Amino acid sequence: MDIIFATHNLNKAEEVSAILGSQYHIKNLREIGCPEIPETADTLQGNALQKAQYVFDHYNVNCFADDTGLEVEALDGRPGVYSARYAGEGCSYQDNVMKMLDEMRGVTNRKACFKTVVALILDGKKYFFEGRVDGEIMTEQHGTDGFGYDPIFKPLGFRQTYAEMSALSKNTISHRARAMQQLKMFLEEYTK
Ligand code: IMP
Repeated sequence: MDIIFATHNLNKAEEVSAILGSQYHIKNLREIGCPEIPETADTLQGNALQKAQYVFDHYNVNCFADDTGLEVEALDGRPGVYSARYAGEGCSYQDNVMKMLDEMRGVTNRKACFKTVVALILDGKKYFFEGRVDGEIMTEQHGTDGFGYDPIFKPLGFRQTYAEMSALSKNTISHRARAMQQLKMFLEEYTK
């Protein structure tokens, strides 16, 4: 089956192709020459659907998109859907990490979760899948691998932060992997 993954991020595209397996021929937005798609919704589901809908409307193909947020309990679920620009428009991953460490200084409730929502448009119909990983926000950075909030997020039941894990380990247990596994199971049933 041919399917478009609405991302320009080649690392993500590779990670997701590996999860879904070779029975799907997945193309990313670079490969089809699609420009950046705005993400202006105020929910993860809204943003994921906005990207998938754009691809469907412009290219009329089966497609899926994802959106991820980090929800921190003591911050009433922030930064959530605004995780990419938590420290301001155009900020770096490190800016976001520093701001989070700052806001969480002295806070004892460190519970947080990563959520990924996938929106799929298949034969014109919409479907949603969610992957969630609970964990905690560290008081300082640990590890150098990965990206985003990886150095300060430790998943429940693990002794390492995402940034201390190998890419393979993280990509097996991550929020995005869980959402994509659900997508994979759905596609397998659908195409049976
Ligand atoms: P996106 O929806 O995948 O672009 O994710 C939005 C933002 O969430 C990113 O800019 C990162 O700051 C953060 N993020 C997403 N996935 C991860 C992850 O696996 N580890 C750490 N941070 C992430």
